[in-house]
Amino acid sequence: MYRSHTCGELRIEHIGTKVTLAGWMQRSRDLGGMTFIDLRDRYGITQLAFNMEVNAALCEQARKLGREFVIQVEGEVIERSSKNKNIPTGEIEINVTNLVVLNAAKLPPFTIEDDTDGGDELRMQYRYLDLRRNPVLEKLRLRNRVALETRKYLDSKEFLDVETPVLIKSTPEGARDFVVPSRMNEGQFYALPQSPQTFKQLLMVSGFDRYYQIVKCFRDEDLRADRQPEFTQIDCEMAFVEQNDILEMFEGLIKHLFETVRGVKFEGAFPRMTYAEAMERYGSDKPDIRFGMEFVDLTALAQQNDFVVFNSAEAVLAINAEGCSEYTRKQLDELTEWVKRPQIGAKGLVYIKCNTDGTFKSSVDKFYSEADLKAMAERANAKPGDLLLLLSGDLAKTRKQLNELRLHLASQLGLRDPNVFKPLWVLDFPLLEWDEESGRYHAMHHPFTSPKPEDMHLIDTDPGKVRANAYDLAMNGVELGGGSIRIHDRALQSRMFDLLGFSKEEAQAQFGFLMSAFEYGAPPHGGLAFGLDRLVATMGGSESIRDYIAFPKNNSGRDTMIDAPSPLNEAQLKELGLKLN
Ligand code: AMO
Repeated sequence: MYRSHTCGELRIEHIGTKVTLAGWMQRSRDLGGMTFIDLRDRYGITQLAFNMEVNAALCEQARKLGREFVIQVEGEVIERSSKNKNIPTGEIEINVTNLVVLNAAKLPPFTIEDDTDGGDELRMQYRYLDLRRNPVLEKLRLRNRVALETRKYLDSKEFLDVETPVLIKSTPEGARDFVVPSRMNEGQFYALPQSPQTFKQLLMVSGFDRYYQIVKCFRDEDLRADRQPEFTQIDCEMAFVEQNDILEMFEGLIKHLFETVRGVKFEGAFPRMTYAEAMERYGSDKPDIRFGMEFVDLTALAQQNDFVVFNSAEAVLAINAEGCSEYTRKQLDELTEWVKRPQIGAKGLVYIKCNTDGTFKSSVDKFYSEADLKAMAERANAKPGDLLLLLSGDLAKTRKQLNELRLHLASQLGLRDPNVFKPLWVLDFPLLEWDEESGRYHAMHHPFTSPKPEDMHLIDTDPGKVRANAYDLAMNGVELGGGSIRIHDRALQSRMFDLLGFSKEEAQAQFGFLMSAFEYGAPPHGGLAFGLDRLVATMGGSESIRDYIAFPKNNSGRDTMIDAPSPLNEAQLKELGLKLN
């Protein structure tokens, strides 16, 4: 037996107990006649005491231990003379009688402390050491709790956990596939699933009725704070449901998770908003509604004068930064530079200060009278002391840019409290999205999403206007999940592939299996998938999902610890029938 207790377990009631503990040497303190060591494991820290007078040899041995040595000690639990109220074991210590070094350790490349001196890259290279740190461990504990409670909830609702294959054929979810060459079928490739979408639909055809899986998905796309090339979905599908059944079921899941894991209770139903409204009010399909700062359309008012920038714009939109009229020239210049960065791409930023004395000052005073500015301020419900920020140009682009500015400002103003959670269902997404580059429509969600029956008449004449039975759950500006009611009719599915520019042959080659399945009694069905990494990070109050993944990849998609991806040797390439140029 390596240990009788963990390092987080012993309390005052254990005084007098003989124990054996094992763990890592976190730090040691020599105080003349006494040496104290903090022994750490996953469960906590226990103080070990060595007394020079009682056992000099043992004390010497303890003094030689280096950071992160793995040791085992035997001893008796005694009451501490100076108690540490900050840790649960702080009232006791171990009077050590025997010490065994189980394994020595090299000095770690960074300190294994809550506040470490290690930079991001170094910590990723030695992720197994980073994972010893409490803040990192806590994040993975949170993830474990969320996954466990997800299973409990879905199990209680009769969902069956079914595994689907990882070596599959491409499923279009809007990203590139990762592909795997097949040795046994030279010249042919599997794709890793971007999601189990087609399989879960086939399970509905099989009559499984309610499916879920906590499953790895793979997407070769540009990475961001909330995107990893491999990530995890809570993937779900239900048969004989309408949109509202799904929203209620999964609102229930999110409420259950927040209540059991975070102790946060949501009152009433989650608010719902159409995609069109979300775009108009926030310029985003995943608005952060923890704060206001909604868009104000000033196009008509702004185009009454000779300001050519506004006059030539499709839209002039503003947000009101409440209480910011005292922003300095420097602050305004900084904001202007911020929106002009290539990532945002605005040409400039116009401001209107609503001074506390009732006057107005703007960067376009030349073109607008005090009365003009006042009219715009009134339209925006701005009060004395507020600051209006205006962007103009193409409607879609301006919305996107103003959304970024809104979020940026709110972060600066402290309006994005990570301990406040504001869910929002966004409904009625467009079915299709025009892609300038390829000059054709793409499915906005995926090609299996059903159009709204009431919009079907537009499908030939104005396909871009057709709305889908598709929905997302947004929270705090993050898209936590999304799904749709599916097409379950072969003819309609085939029509959809036409619209997306697939030839009959291509559609048949890629998705013939699904369309065939629809001919054998497919029930109406629908579902959704949550991004587990994003859900957990949001619950943890973070925008970056990387910390919530045990072994994440960096921004170039590399795992620097195992050094992947890496080249194949000649023999492997040959066996796979691959030639590199
Ligand atoms: P979707 O593509 O919207 O839907 O994905 C569902 C959720 O998965 C998360 N997500 C990601 N998380 C981290 N890194 C990524 N690269 C990444 N990509 C997506 C998001 C997203 O909301 N099959 C459909 C679901 C359905 O229709 O049922 C699908 O995959 O949180």
